[in-house]
Amino acid sequence: MNRIVTLDEFIIRRQMDFPFASGELTGLLRDIGVAAKIVNREVNKAGLVNILGVAGSENASGETVQKLDLYANDKLIECLKNSGECCGVASEEFEDYIPIPGVSSKTSKYVVVFDPLDGSSNIDVNVSVGTIFGIYRRVSDPEGPCKLADFLQPGTQLVAAGYVLYGTSTLLVYTTGRGVNGFTLDPSIGEFCLSHRDIQIPDRGNYYSVNQGYYLKFDLEMRRYIDHCSDLNLQLRYIGSMVSDVHRILFQGGIFLYPNTRKYPQGKLRLVYECNPLSFIVEQAGGKAITAQLERILELPVKHLHERVTIAIGSPGMVDEMKDFVERYSAPPMYKHAEAG
Ligand code: AHG
Ligand code: MN
Ligand code: MN
Repeated sequence: MNRIVTLDEFIIRRQMDFPFASGELTGLLRDIGVAAKIVNREVNKAGLVNILGVAGSENASGETVQKLDLYANDKLIECLKNSGECCGVASEEFEDYIPIPGVSSKTSKYVVVFDPLDGSSNIDVNVSVGTIFGIYRRVSDPEGPCKLADFLQPGTQLVAAGYVLYGTSTLLVYTTGRGVNGFTLDPSIGEFCLSHRDIQIPDRGNYYSVNQGYYLKFDLEMRRYIDHCSDLNLQLRYIGSMVSDVHRILFQGGIFLYPNTRKYPQGKLRLVYECNPLSFIVEQAGGKAITAQLERILELPVKHLHERVTIAIGSPGMVDEMKDFVERYSAPPMYKHAEAG
């Protein structure tokens, strides 16, 4: 029988690979692992909400029931606050970032960004959701509280990123920039156990993932590329939770697209909480992630916390092909201008 390697053991072993590591990053990843287990417990009983109470009401024990995304948000912040390994967080759920005071006069050098529950509309129908996170080394003075600039770093500066998928089983996938590894939660022992070592994305795959309902709202070049996927008999899969859709592609190959639409001219997905962390993971696994305007996601300057971007992410061969289509079929800027007017 193969020996079980738990997430904690794996993280600690990896720390030993960095001779000057102080253990802070290790502590942070462990805190996130703990939060993931707590959120997982709650996600699993989400179907009982009518028995236990609906969001905003009181459950049988008189506790106020929270919406699951707010619950996940609170648990992540709580776990990250406890150990003092993090000096601030920015969450999709909050307008502004939250500085976290040091514990026992110790100031931390890391900030964490997260989407506590991605695909939350899936919760009511028992379909997969996830948590996405990214970790940056602060750039502000370590003696003071964290600053906005700590969170507005491009994705190339990510120190670590990961996601938790609450699916048929619960999986935590993360990278610290040296490959990508996946851990499956074994509920019988309450531990994430190494199940997918050094994940590599296939060069191409059989899946394309896009909200086809918006087809007519996409630019011509994107419609051409989607037609091409269909001509190739690729299979369309769209769960409506980016983390779940990207997860399938990471493991089986394919491309996930969220281009600009008339409703979301800049794209819908958030650069800080969704696109940068997932792009870091996918690139670490050998994939690519670019905007519909063909810029590398990780190099984009981050202007504000809730900035949205377009994205094409997945197998390198397919992202390159999408790029060719955009280059070939894009209307010259003058024509676009006339079209918009
Ligand atoms: P969230 O639940 O965190 O708000 O994210 C939902 C996002 C993303 O996960 C998903 O890919 C996308 O919204 C789906 O959007 P459409 O319904 O417009 O396709
Ligand atoms: Mn999301
Ligand atoms: Mn969310």
